[in-house]
Amino acid sequence: MARSPRRGVEALIGRIEATESLDPPGYAIGNALARPAQIAGRPAQRLGNALHGTRYGHPVHPMVVTLPIGAWTLAFGLDLLAMLGLAREKRAAPVAETALRAGALGAVAAAATGLADWQYTDGRDRRLGLVHALANGTALGLNLLSLALRGRGRLGEGRAASAAAWGAMFAGGYLGGHLVYRRRVGTDHADRSPEPREWQPVVPLAELREDRPRRVEVRDANIRQEIGIALVLHRGRVHAMGARCSHAGGPLDQGWVLEGRLVCPWHGSRYCLESGQPIDGPSTIPQPRYAVRIRDGMVELRREQEPGDEVVTRERVAQAAVPQGGALGRRADEVLVEHHMMLRRMFERIEAMPREDPERRDLMRALAEELEIHEHIEDKLFYPAVRPISEDVAIAHAEHRQLADLLAMTLKLNTATPEFEEHLRALHAAVDHHAGSEERSMFREAERLGERRLREIGHALEALLEEMRASRARQAFRALKVRLLEGA
Ligand code: FES
Repeated sequence: MARSPRRGVEALIGRIEATESLDPPGYAIGNALARPAQIAGRPAQRLGNALHGTRYGHPVHPMVVTLPIGAWTLAFGLDLLAMLGLAREKRAAPVAETALRAGALGAVAAAATGLADWQYTDGRDRRLGLVHALANGTALGLNLLSLALRGRGRLGEGRAASAAAWGAMFAGGYLGGHLVYRRRVGTDHADRSPEPREWQPVVPLAELREDRPRRVEVRDANIRQEIGIALVLHRGRVHAMGARCSHAGGPLDQGWVLEGRLVCPWHGSRYCLESGQPIDGPSTIPQPRYAVRIRDGMVELRREQEPGDEVVTRERVAQAAVPQGGALGRRADEVLVEHHMMLRRMFERIEAMPREDPERRDLMRALAEELEIHEHIEDKLFYPAVRPISEDVAIAHAEHRQLADLLAMTLKLNTATPEFEEHLRALHAAVDHHAGSEERSMFREAERLGERRLREIGHALEALLEEMRASRARQAFRALKVRLLEGA
């Protein structure tokens, strides 16, 4: 049986990751980089921080690699256009050469930042990183060769070298993507649970020792996990930050305090006790922070939520539950459950109809329109109202997208075919899942809004439902959309 390209590439990457013979050269290079830095001391640490991106909150390497990729791709494209006669030789060749030079400069910067990050990897990541660097180094070498050949008037050979370099760069980029997206090198490894949202006692103050990090745990019921927090008593004050290092997950509670910083025992990142910011790399990402107070001799913690986190807190619930003076109707959850039931009945009717029944298509269109209405009223009114009191809204939005995709696929099919049956069942299951999870979780959480606010939202939902069904313009728009999805 033919092997898929993906499996071939995965097998190749797996072989590289398992090649232990790459370790001796890998560690030799790592040591060769570390020695001068150790001799140089603080200036080398500052340079290292700049190369990692410690002060920018983000690794520098992914930003810098765009320079050689962009410049060398431009050169490759110009060469190609000139060879195809689509660009004038006289104009394309000098621009391509300039792009090759600019790309080479960018590649040196990319190599410096990449090496700085790579030396703090281990095992399979270190091996793959080494081959990633070799591929990109090959690309740089070939492009320098290309420039030399072009300088001697051997344009054809120069272009061949650039084309080969572009291929090597592409392979290097693939491995780099694997390192980040599959192996999570350079991504955030800290636990960013929102717990504890309210003050929680964790340990008697008397049990803490000056500058001796201590691990405590709080429960995150949503993910059913204990979250580790590193406590440090320093100069009479208790500081707290996530115990899992954002760089690669090292245990900060097993680290030590040096010059008022908490040092990670794995790669030596130093974190400010006050802010959780990395002061020295390789880490670039701040640690999760916790507010600390002492009550009755106990250390109490509360998570300092991060900007953009949509975490339900007592304050947000209180704000969301304030009635807004709107008209009252049925409760929002009652209105939506009723609509869920209607959708379920429509599915049952379509499923029970004979396949050849021409009304099946009409009912399918009616179902599509009701699904559209349902999505609209939830997106416009219900989700914004419950967002402060429910963390399910992001998932609900994702499920709407999933339903819309499935609906679009189903509408394109002939209603008399087995494929339609299969897709209809899948769509029915997706709607059931979405409605069921709202009914089991989100609607229960919506109770926190209080009876009056729920009735205000319910009234607005019913008014919008009525408007959407009655409006000729909206009817026409929905019908057109369904026809377009059908491919008619
Ligand atoms: S895990 Fe690398 S510095 Fe903490």
